[in-house]
Amino acid sequence: MFYFATKNEHKYNEVLTILKNYKEEYPTFNLEIKKVEINIPEEIESFNTYYDNAVKKAQYVYHHVFKPVIAEDSGLEIDQLLGFPGVATSKIFPKLTQEQKNQAFANMVSNLPMEFRKCRYVCRVVVLFDFSRYYSFEGVVEGFLSDVVIGSNGFGFDPIFLYPSMAMTFGQMDINVKCSISHRYIAFKKLFDFLREGSY
Ligand code: IMP
Repeated sequence: MFYFATKNEHKYNEVLTILKNYKEEYPTFNLEIKKVEINIPEEIESFNTYYDNAVKKAQYVYHHVFKPVIAEDSGLEIDQLLGFPGVATSKIFPKLTQEQKNQAFANMVSNLPMEFRKCRYVCRVVVLFDFSRYYSFEGVVEGFLSDVVIGSNGFGFDPIFLYPSMAMTFGQMDINVKCSISHRYIAFKKLFDFLREGSY
């Protein structure tokens, strides 16, 4: 059993969905993931890279549970903003609701051609077995900022993250669809392949 170091119920549900689908493909893969019930302080995630944030989160939880821990850090990177907000995604506009943040970004790109709206979600996952033994994997999915806030599925910036090949936002997608293409899917699939192969 692995603990998942997150306070975000959406992320946890997505990871469980990715794991369920993975187990359908590999029925003998018997990993169990449980959300940790300890309060992870916000200050833990104040590093400049997804990797450092994920490692620190995993180490913090490991100190409490002394069992293997999975942690992830993710963000939205906008090309024309030089990759911002990136690792700071959860910290921007702290006084705005998520709906207001989504609307602000949609307004920002409303008169811009698609080539100026390129963005990506990045997910960095870390599995930590003990204090010094940990491995990490990354997933990236490319998209465009939508100029309309659309869809009520997912969380965060999903209603403005346009996935071009399906011509819909992540907010319009069923969780099973998002969890077959997302940055989180790509990162966790690499993690599950690594654990299944057992070469650690
Ligand atoms: P953190 O990984 O908890 O620091 O949060 C990263 C932030 O990036 C979240 O609060 C969301 O705003 C955003 N984010 C990361 N992944 C997703 C996603 O799958 N959908 C929507 N927003 C995301």
